[in-house]
Amino acid sequence: MTNASDGKNDPAAGLMAALGHRRSVRKFRDQAVPRELLMRVIEAGVQAPSACNIQGWRFILVENPDLRRALHEAGGSVMIPQAPAGILVVYDNTTKNMPYRDDIQSAAACIQNMLLAADALGLGGCWICNLPSPSFVRRLLDIPWNYSPVAFLMIGYPTDAPRREVARKLPLDQMVGVDRFPSGGQAKTPGRVTVHFLRFAYWGYRVTPQFLKKLFVNKLVDRYLTKKFDD
Ligand SMILES: Cc1cc2nc3c(=O)[nH]c(=O)nc-3n(C[C@H](O)[C@H](O)[C@H](O)COP(=O)(O)O)c2cc1C
Repeated sequence: MTNASDGKNDPAAGLMAALGHRRSVRKFRDQAVPRELLMRVIEAGVQAPSACNIQGWRFILVENPDLRRALHEAGGSVMIPQAPAGILVVYDNTTKNMPYRDDIQSAAACIQNMLLAADALGLGGCWICNLPSPSFVRRLLDIPWNYSPVAFLMIGYPTDAPRREVARKLPLDQMVGVDRFPSGGQAKTPGRVTVHFLRFAYWGYRVTPQFLKKLFVNKLVDRYLTKKFDD
């Protein structure tokens, strides 16, 4: 299989370049992001396809630092309070095709558009799905029961540090199968038991009372379990 973006007259060259340019950005200059730019990012998001064309996305600009801190203290990523701007994407959870989570798929399409637009506007962003329990987020931000928090986008002006290269883990022909699952494409995943244990531990953390999280659990999680990125 060849790389479809090779070749001089590739009509997708501009788009492929934009896709390749976007990288997650986690370190930002101390500079506020104008509201108009955030609205442009959202405008890009809502161009995404959505299951049954429901367009069930809604957006919360989380400007108040106390709210961002609360999202972290209740179990969300330590990075949430660190970006100059943040947009929480929520989606209508009353969609029908639950076995395939059409709500999450639609929200994800929107989020990717947003990250690409942020990049094109000279901003940087990172998709954060490490959030407190949905019920906590609903209470904190007045989200009705029929909308579910999906992800928080940290957004800001990137520092001048060079962007991390993120290599694709497999060549295309190992990721693509014809009429069946690709032969060489099994990812290295932990065994089933480990996967179930990790899910159980994750659930346990989510239901840990708030005061225990604040007291010491968050510190342990941030120190030993949170994946560290140096960008
Ligand atoms: C569904 C989803 C959830 C993610 N959640 C987090 C997160 O909680 N914290 C974080 O730092 N990055 C998060 N990321 C960003 C990934 O770590 C990042 O996309 C990946 O390392 C590849 O790097 P790149 O975006 O620069 O290509 C998430 C990405 C996706 C798609």
